[in-house]
Amino acid sequence: MSEEVKKFKITIDGQTTEVLPGTTIIEAARQIGGKSVPPAMCYYSKLEHSGGRCRTCLVEVSKGSEADPRPMPKLVASCRTAVMDGMEVKNLTSERTQEARKAVTEFMLIHHPLDCPVCDQAGECHLQDLSYEHGLSDSRMEFEKKTFDAEDIGPNIKLNMNRCILCARCVLLANQLTEEREHGILFRGEHAEIGTYLNKALENDFIGNVIDVCPVGALTDRTARFASRVWFTKPMNATCNCDKCSGKAVIWMKGEEIVRVTGRKDKYGEVEEFICDDCRFHKKDLKYWTVEGPRNIERHSVISLNHYETPQPKEQTNLWNHFNQNKIGSPDKKETSNG
Ligand code: SF4
Ligand code: FES
Repeated sequence: MSEEVKKFKITIDGQTTEVLPGTTIIEAARQIGGKSVPPAMCYYSKLEHSGGRCRTCLVEVSKGSEADPRPMPKLVASCRTAVMDGMEVKNLTSERTQEARKAVTEFMLIHHPLDCPVCDQAGECHLQDLSYEHGLSDSRMEFEKKTFDAEDIGPNIKLNMNRCILCARCVLLANQLTEEREHGILFRGEHAEIGTYLNKALENDFIGNVIDVCPVGALTDRTARFASRVWFTKPMNATCNCDKCSGKAVIWMKGEEIVRVTGRKDKYGEVEEFICDDCRFHKKDLKYWTVEGPRNIERHSVISLNHYETPQPKEQTNLWNHFNQNKIGSPDKKETSNG
């Protein structure tokens, strides 16, 4: 008879749940759901060893455990900290956490161009969401931003390094899902950047999933670039006969045209099942697909609303003030065409 594993009790923002030993705080928070779930820019539950890089998921541990109730002196990364029995965590209810998140957001934006008006990720971008929530209305960055030219890395993928936050999700995905890894993080510290080894192209099957896991618009689909703003398209659940993947995808329609194909994502923006490159890049005709019906986008976003929600006055000013004051970068004017 198998022995029942004793679960650990954890309280996050006053809500208690029980989880298996080894569960991280962020996963426990996701189990509770709602607004107490910390944002995550680098953690991706489907990828091993993700997390620990961006610090957006910092939380305050006000009680370490039942056995040792002392609070943890520093904020901890909830994606990398395991739950202890009796632990008490503050996310929304912690002023320190909110302050730290603001600082992390500001840090991520110091080099990031706010080119949302011309970025294909706009409307689906996690950094855009984070900026609305925690961004400052002004920038303290006085130095010139780092800039890179946009680069075609293969026939189907565009790298815009200006937007990369070095979360490493794309590298982990290539490591864990494709046959051969053809790109990685080159150099260190301030000089770190995503690069292909010896300028090779990313051509492995399944490599297109790097586009789906990228939290910002650093990796985009060349077959769909500038085809439409995402909120003008209709996401539909569709399946096709595929011998490489499950064939379960979302087709983004504009009229009768399939503008792009992506994996199906959950409310945390994580792909449920990775799709192959054939489905993603080469099946842009309805004849390949059986349409199941409209996709319910669970994540709070303009896509689910199909229009911009009227923001609160304070939130409204944040992103656009950054852009309008032109203090933290202007749109990348070099890119005006598809591909
Ligand atoms: S390209 Fe995207 S997924 Fe890759 S490290 Fe940069 S932000 Fe992360
Ligand atoms: S999501 Fe936890 S450090 Fe990035």
